[in-house]
Amino acid sequence: MEKAENSFIDPPNPRKDIEDLQAYSAPLEGRRNLLRLDFNENTIGPSPLVIKSLREISRDEISIYPEYSGLKEKVVENLIKQTSSVNINSSEIGVFNGVDAAINAIFHAYGDHNDLMLTTSPTFGYYTPCAQMRGMKINSIPYEGKDFQYPFDSICKFIIQNNPKILLICNPNNPTGTRLSPERIIEITKLSSRTLVVVDELYEAFTGDSVLPFVSFQTTPNLVVLRSLSKTAGLASLRIGFAIGHSKVINIVNRVTGPYDVNSFAVIAAFAALKDQSYIDSYVKEVLEARNWIKDQFEKYHVKHHIDGGNYFLLWPKSKPEVVEQKLKSSGILIRNMDTKRNLKGSIRVSIGTTEQMKRFWSAYKIVDEV
Ligand SMILES: Cc1ncc(COP(=O)(O)O)c(C=O)c1O
Repeated sequence: MEKAENSFIDPPNPRKDIEDLQAYSAPLEGRRNLLRLDFNENTIGPSPLVIKSLREISRDEISIYPEYSGLKEKVVENLIKQTSSVNINSSEIGVFNGVDAAINAIFHAYGDHNDLMLTTSPTFGYYTPCAQMRGMKINSIPYEGKDFQYPFDSICKFIIQNNPKILLICNPNNPTGTRLSPERIIEITKLSSRTLVVVDELYEAFTGDSVLPFVSFQTTPNLVVLRSLSKTAGLASLRIGFAIGHSKVINIVNRVTGPYDVNSFAVIAAFAALKDQSYIDSYVKEVLEARNWIKDQFEKYHVKHHIDGGNYFLLWPKSKPEVVEQKLKSSGILIRNMDTKRNLKGSIRVSIGTTEQMKRFWSAYKIVDEV
């Protein structure tokens, strides 16, 4: 048979949901050697124990598939050490290639075509594409008022009326810092046993109001809590995060991941980071001190700002956000433009690092926006 050279002009069609998808995109390139206040990462790097353990990785370790034994137990041990009333066991921990992968897996395992995903707006940008990939319908309720209060009553009403399949609560919320108390989260979990309530606690270390010490997954099986070593522990590039929930839920969510999705470097670094919790604690303390310092400057200079939970704040510069973004970049500082986000027109988001780093930011910002 004669070979038809050009018979396939287009590649095969993807699934319709994927063809229509607006993928999560973030300005990730060219960030080295700058003061990175754009992704809420740890700005000083991980514990020296992490660096040491990575340097000591053997050739064998690289050529064999990763092993995970003892990691979940270590996570449980650390959580209990931090708050003795935490009541969980290792079968309630899932290990993922970053919390992003945990979020995607939860949607993959629980979200069906035309199911409802409920969340708030503005919030972390990866929930929506994950829901869209599954062909889910999305309902996002805006934060309320000038200080971005959690729309608790509207969320409750919506759950009672619609029984959404997944509710995503980012607590504290990125980018508004909005906090929701453990008591209110528990109230929400009681509204519908058919709704999986996912609480993304990525920035919980900066507020200390986790729901974990207040729940037992035996009695609250529709709750999943997400934690990561990306931000406070400084392992963002290695990709490791945890989903914590009822053992049946964790088992189900783990079914949609590959057997070795989390690599050995991440596992080794995680053990070292968890062993040095005091390093994480002292970094968090430093960020909170820097937060107070920068907040004082905003108040002193009457700068329009919003600062709540998390290692970040919002500013409304007098100039256009993209101009401020560009000018700060020219001074070696990266921030995030929030101009197109719902209710955040004219704003930028800035991550909080050490006081020294905040002083550097503030000196540059005062010139750029003529404060
Ligand atoms: C609220 C929130 N959840 C999840 C993530 C992703 O975390 P990870 O690095 O563990 O994938 C981020 C990262 O910015 C985030 O802000």
